[in-house]
Amino acid sequence: MKITKAILTGGGRATRLRPITTTINKHLIPLANKPMIFHAIDKVVEAGVKEIFINTNPGETQLQKVVGDGARWGVSIKYFEQTGGPQGIAHVVNCAKDFIGDDPFMFYLSDNIILGSLVPFFEEFERKNHDCMLAFSKVDDPERFGVPVFDANKKLVEIIEKPSAPTSNFAVTGIYLYGPKIFFEAFNHIQKSPRGEYEISDIHSYFLKNGRSVGWKEITGWWKDTGKPEDLIMANTLLLGEMKKSEFSRFDSPLGRGRNKLAMLKGNVHIGEGTTIGPGVKIVGPVIIGNHCALSQCSIGPNVTIGSGSSIRLASISNSIIFSNCTIESKIKISDSIIGDQAKVMKNKIKKVHRLIIGDQTLIEL
Ligand code: G1P
Repeated sequence: MKITKAILTGGGRATRLRPITTTINKHLIPLANKPMIFHAIDKVVEAGVKEIFINTNPGETQLQKVVGDGARWGVSIKYFEQTGGPQGIAHVVNCAKDFIGDDPFMFYLSDNIILGSLVPFFEEFERKNHDCMLAFSKVDDPERFGVPVFDANKKLVEIIEKPSAPTSNFAVTGIYLYGPKIFFEAFNHIQKSPRGEYEISDIHSYFLKNGRSVGWKEITGWWKDTGKPEDLIMANTLLLGEMKKSEFSRFDSPLGRGRNKLAMLKGNVHIGEGTTIGPGVKIVGPVIIGNHCALSQCSIGPNVTIGSGSSIRLASISNSIIFSNCTIESKIKISDSIIGDQAKVMKNKIKKVHRLIIGDQTLIEL
């Protein structure tokens, strides 16, 4: 049965990503210079989804403004809130019950970043006429995830949420397909877990214990649940690496590289409109630089994204995500870093000291 509807997550507090998530919804964090949730939408639209329902935090407006009504992707996007506050992701799905009706659907945790296409996953679900289809990925720390349990015949029999002693090194990823009605039937049979949540793993265990056909496929490309800052940096790097050469384009800048012999660009480099590349700039791709940035006497890359309106001088930056309207003007080496909107890293011209005006839960390693 063809799936054309998808529920995506767009809420949550993402405390492990503070201070970045103090001012920005986690799903809007730029990865390869696109809000995180755009990558999820790209994947589900590519797989044939036409109607998307995104769960948001109460009172959220930022996400709706950035994502819009789906016209950008040629699909319809609507938003909904979880009634009664956070109660687990199975509850999020249940809150979208009226949108889904009797249709099959996909549920996607938008902070799960994958490389490659979801098309084969959808195709197998349809071809084998499964009631539910799960995607597994091998991880070093399965105890952080839903983990499958197999019997002696390697048959999937149960999914345990965050087991203290996992029996497999597979994690159940946040990419799920369901046939008509069954999710909502199962929801009526599960209880909140000790952490006070309706666990999606309990829905899947209910299916397995009640004779539903649950298929699974391993994601062999790459999958990451972007819960921690280092996951974001890794996701940024891999998404940049996955981009085709043709997706990087260079707008001519007044001090463009043709005219500026002192600048050196190598590999896949995207330079946004109105960005100026001054003398002494060295860029080694993959790198994406937004619009209206100013760069001079600095070294950028590899694996760096810089948001629009930023100014970089004297610094050397690799493996990092720099948001918009930042000023980095100091002779320092920055690596494996995330720098939020409008942040300034400057040379102290008066005293030979570090002067820090930093927000809560900031990390600085000097
Ligand atoms: C959720 C699910 C878990 C799954 C994980 C994937 O966990 O409950 O089964 O493995 O997403 O990202 P959470 O991130 O809510 O702890």
